Amino acid sequence: MKVVLNNIGKKYEGREDFTLRNIDLEIESQDFCVILGPSGCGKTTLLRMIAGLNSISEGDLYFNDKRMNKVPSKDRDIAMVFQSYALYPHMTVYDNMAFSLAMRREQKSVIDARVREAAELLQITNYLHSKPSDISGGQRQRVALGRAMVRKPKVFLMDEPLSNLDAKLREHMRVELVRLHKSLGTTSIYVTHDQTEAMTMATKIVLMNEGKIQQAGKPEEFYNKPANLFVARFIGSPTMNIFQGRIENGQFFAKDNLFKVSPSAADAEAVKAFEGQPVSLGIRSERFLTTATDENVEVRVDVVEMLGKEKILYANLISGDELVISVPGHLHFEEGQSYKFGLDQGALHFFSTETGERINI
Ligand SMILES: Nc1ncnc2c1ncn2[C@@H]1O[C@H](COP(=O)(O)OP(=O)(O)OP(=O)(O)O)[C@@H](O)[C@H]1O
Ligand SMILES: [Mg+2]
Repeated sequence: MKVVLNNIGKKYEGREDFTLRNIDLEIESQDFCVILGPSGCGKTTLLRMIAGLNSISEGDLYFNDKRMNKVPSKDRDIAMVFQSYALYPHMTVYDNMAFSLAMRREQKSVIDARVREAAELLQITNYLHSKPSDISGGQRQRVALGRAMVRKPKVFLMDEPLSNLDAKLREHMRVELVRLHKSLGTTSIYVTHDQTEAMTMATKIVLMNEGKIQQAGKPEEFYNKPANLFVARFIGSPTMNIFQGRIENGQFFAKDNLFKVSPSAADAEAVKAFEGQPVSLGIRSERFLTTATDENVEVRVDVVEMLGKEKILYANLISGDELVISVPGHLHFEEGQSYKFGLDQGALHFFSTETGERINI
């Protein structure tokens, strides 16, 4: 099912301002759409509006061509998994999963088939007769998913379903959820504040901040072409290095003339349009060149972190501004020493310092 949000806004009663505004979004039927953003940006609010658990203050919500604004939650053909996926402690896993179907007075044979099918997919068949207290956190999480799956919803809504799990289990469940989505093909909308989850799971990411969409698109677009400074800083680890400076003669001059760099031919025209204006230059840690070029940046390396295949250098410009550089693990760097690095011209991100918007295409 296709989910379309048309200029959606939310104003909670008793609040001065809109919590969400001007949300335009199209989620295709096979999408695994991840809604990403910092705490309080309105992710849960948005998901609950799609679920019919929050009213919609303005704009239109469509499932395929049908306007859903006034359709009650129970008639929306959705299933939602919450962060606190409370299972009924006195019921077996089987009964927990069967519960919603039993409430709808489905036939016993239908219920049994659906529960077993979901259990099989989630690999919890062996625990169907256990109580929630006798299985692990990850297994409980799968029961919560199974409970939603047996209803065969048209849209699957998940609000931080993995946040209660430890790092290793979370990684494992991430892969399982992607696998599950591939085999079920149900439109999925998944809320998280974890950029790694978004980058690894999503077919489409929607990054929000302060109730507005900052960028929507494929994961690699976020990494390679962040639409503004907020996106640039939010996506990627280590965080993208950002330098303040200005454009003169079509070149970027860092603050205090600490270094300069020429944009690539592809970026030259867009950058030239900002002649004389303050501009922020972004470059990811892995796009520094260890062989000197015509345009170098000189840094002092404070800390070298050895990760095996790469080293992370925590460094300073003479101005004291900090930066992070990743280099291949076999290269040698001394803490306390100064080094020159080139900047990969094809990997420069230019932003207007005034608006934060991306300059180069
Ligand atoms: N029922 C409510 N009434 C009034 N304000 C609310 C209500 N629910 C949420 N808000 C406010 O709306 C804003 C967005 O909240 P929301 O829960 O959607 O954020 P979130 O992105 O899901 O955050 P988190 O990552 O912490 O879960 C917050 O400022 C919150 O205080
Ligand atoms: Mg939330």
